[in-house]
Amino acid sequence: MPDPLSQSTPLGVGLIGLGTVGGGVAQMLTEHAGLYAKRCGRRIELRRVVVRNVDKAKKSGLVDPGIVGDDVSALRGDDVDVVIEVAGGVDTAKGYVEQALSAGKHVVTANKALLAAHGPALFKLARLKGVSIAFEASCGGGIPCVTALQFGLMSNAVRGLYGILNGTCNYILTEMTQKGRTYAEALADAKAKGYAEADETLDVSGADAAQKLAILASLAFGVSLTGDDVPCEGIDTLDLTDVTFGDELGYDVKLIAAAEDDGRGGLFLSTRPCFVPKDAQLAQVHGAFNALSVVGDAVGHVMLYGAGAGRGPTASAVVSDLLNVASGWYPKAFADMGLMPDLHEPATPQPTDDAQSRFYLRLSVRDVPGGFGRITTILGEHGISLSAALQHEATHTGDDFVPVVITTHRCRQGDLHAACAMIANLDAVSGPPVVLRILDAT
Ligand code: NDP
Ligand code: HSE
Repeated sequence: MPDPLSQSTPLGVGLIGLGTVGGGVAQMLTEHAGLYAKRCGRRIELRRVVVRNVDKAKKSGLVDPGIVGDDVSALRGDDVDVVIEVAGGVDTAKGYVEQALSAGKHVVTANKALLAAHGPALFKLARLKGVSIAFEASCGGGIPCVTALQFGLMSNAVRGLYGILNGTCNYILTEMTQKGRTYAEALADAKAKGYAEADETLDVSGADAAQKLAILASLAFGVSLTGDDVPCEGIDTLDLTDVTFGDELGYDVKLIAAAEDDGRGGLFLSTRPCFVPKDAQLAQVHGAFNALSVVGDAVGHVMLYGAGAGRGPTASAVVSDLLNVASGWYPKAFADMGLMPDLHEPATPQPTDDAQSRFYLRLSVRDVPGGFGRITTILGEHGISLSAALQHEATHTGDDFVPVVITTHRCRQGDLHAACAMIANLDAVSGPPVVLRILDAT
């Protein structure tokens, strides 16, 4: 019996980038060629690979050296139907993607920095050219969270998203808290394992997680927004003292990217280190794993969990996108459904000062009579109720400063900041308090 697939037109693929992710994509396309042909009804053929260092790519053993080059215009030819962009960066990648779309090629990308900066304009161009952009790998590595928000949960009005979206940061925090390793050791290891961005400051500053949140929130809430709309703090300013106090109080620290409906058509957006109760699901996410907690009006709470970075998990998402394009359903959904951010109104990010939450404060307080009392008075005057207070027994008396930790009940963040500004001016207090959100929403 003749092979039915031999009659169908193969899908020609051009790949930009053969690093951690691109290498994984090439490997999967080789290893699973038969399986993919069966699943899509057509063969998937990797026909061109574009990199900067051609020699290195030719010697990698990952692809046929004959298809490797350094000229991206080679992807405009008729032999390429889909361009996979896994090179990274923003400006050059934008040029590559624009060229591909303009030449009528579908694009699959893992590049969250690109989409968080220019997504709506690129989606618009794709629509104009009658092609699609698929981007599952841009958020959450191997977790199909983009597909889940776009399709699986599309019946819901989403109320909140709470994500651990950066594998590098979560790996560093896990290694430091569970294995006692230093920040520098853990970061070096994350780089060696292929989790970190080429510029790792994007990871540790929180920018990468903020970019991913912008993409996911635009899908979940049906708005258009950029990474710059997300106020962002990273783990690079986190003090181990707070990690230790949090542990004592029953919390783990996680870099949390959060988007919350303010109930009035606006969104509270933030990416910052937060305390998560140790028995919460998000606290069980360790190493380079990611998780996205979604709160929908009908479904309630859904938690998506899986490997958030690295070769296999990210290539899994890229290749799944490719197969969805190959089968034809994704380009149709892209064209026909009102899901993509180019069709959405701009988001209305609200000042986080108006958001309500619980908080942790650490103050450096002079060990003299009345010091603690003045602090609690100021908090009370701002309508902030204490949930717990902790001061370790002093080893000596006198003028020394000692750490005092306070946790609050839910309060308005702006009221807390106003109280902290007054507290920082007290003679009995040295410097501004450290403030961390306590995430009790999920
Ligand atoms: P790598 O640095 O490992 O690989 C990048 C590849 O792209 C290299 O082959 C490099 O070629 C090539 N490249 C870089 N710039 C250019 C250019 N201007 N023109 C042509 N080729 C270029 O990066 P990753 O594979 O880790 O990441 C790729 C993308 O995937 C990024 O957008 C990243 O944010 C995203 N991503 C990465 C994840 C991960 O876990 N690593 C997870 C999810 C997304 P050469 O070696 O010759 O310089
Ligand atoms: N650098 C990113 C991370 C890669 O660590 O999460 C996955 O997007």
